Amino acid sequence: MSFPEHRPRRLRRTEALRRLVRETHLHPSDFVYPLFVSELVDAKSPIESMPGLFNWPVDMVADEARHAFELGIPAVLLFGTPAFKDATGSASLQDDGIVQRAVRAIKESVPKLAVITDVCLCEYTDHGHCGVIADGDVDNDATLEILARQAVSHAQAGADMVAPSDMMDGRVEAIRSALDAADCVNTAIMSYAAKYCSAFYGPFRQAVDSAPQFGDRRGYQMDPPNVREAMREIEQDIDEGADILMVKPALAYLDVIAEARRTYDVLIAAYNVSGEYSMVKAAAAQGLADESRLVLEVLTSIKRAGADIIVSYHAPDVVRWLKDEM
Ligand code: PBG
Repeated sequence: MSFPEHRPRRLRRTEALRRLVRETHLHPSDFVYPLFVSELVDAKSPIESMPGLFNWPVDMVADEARHAFELGIPAVLLFGTPAFKDATGSASLQDDGIVQRAVRAIKESVPKLAVITDVCLCEYTDHGHCGVIADGDVDNDATLEILARQAVSHAQAGADMVAPSDMMDGRVEAIRSALDAADCVNTAIMSYAAKYCSAFYGPFRQAVDSAPQFGDRRGYQMDPPNVREAMREIEQDIDEGADILMVKPALAYLDVIAEARRTYDVLIAAYNVSGEYSMVKAAAAQGLADESRLVLEVLTSIKRAGADIIVSYHAPDVVRWLKDEM
């Protein structure tokens, strides 16, 4: 049957009909809200590259986390900036390190909120790379042990989940065995399984001062044109024990999310990264488009592509807009 019997516009006539036939819905529980906690600030400090976001001192981050939880967001993802950086990122391993203290503060104040921590070295190394350096290159195997110790330290501080974002080979297995050996069997791993070497991380690197001081991340993060390789990365991380598999960035990689969804029956997360956030903010600030419509359209596309979980700096705004819609 086709036109004139079939008229697709019939079901687009009113908002009630459109809602009735809508195939994809965003919900507050889809979101993880990233939070930046810093030893370099003693007050809420605006992040210039990411309008509307802040670096938080430890004693204020729990209030922001509680705010997110009260809006209906189930989880936060913590990034830390230490006061002290060195070649091996040793500040990331301290029991009183910035992330460890933030986890404790949040868990004490909002125990029901899920707390996820970013596990990586780039915020803690003076050279800005995601691992330790040997002979001018990032040494994969030497980095694994540090990542595993960092993950255990976060878990012991009370993190529900660790999220390794370093892209070293074998890190999920190294982290899983270290967590299990430390009796942290219930700490989950959300692996940045298919993380691409992307220009969309620019605003984030300004926020946490983690740009590499020499070279770039092409030797460990994935080459943007590759999708079959992403499936192998995801499969390897499933085998190594990851609980949730992430694709990052999201917007320029919707095909990767969709392929992962079709190929593997696992939880897929997508990271709506800093460049995606700041691009939308800049367009809205210039009056080029309506911010809430832009954001909802972008995030809906990520969910429609197949993501179960969306990490997004827009999370609190989105949840407010979703409430207004109902
Ligand atoms: C750390 C890390 C990065 C991001 C998340 N974890 C930066 C990078 O890999 O350079 C990017 C997040 C964003 O851009 O929003 N390795």
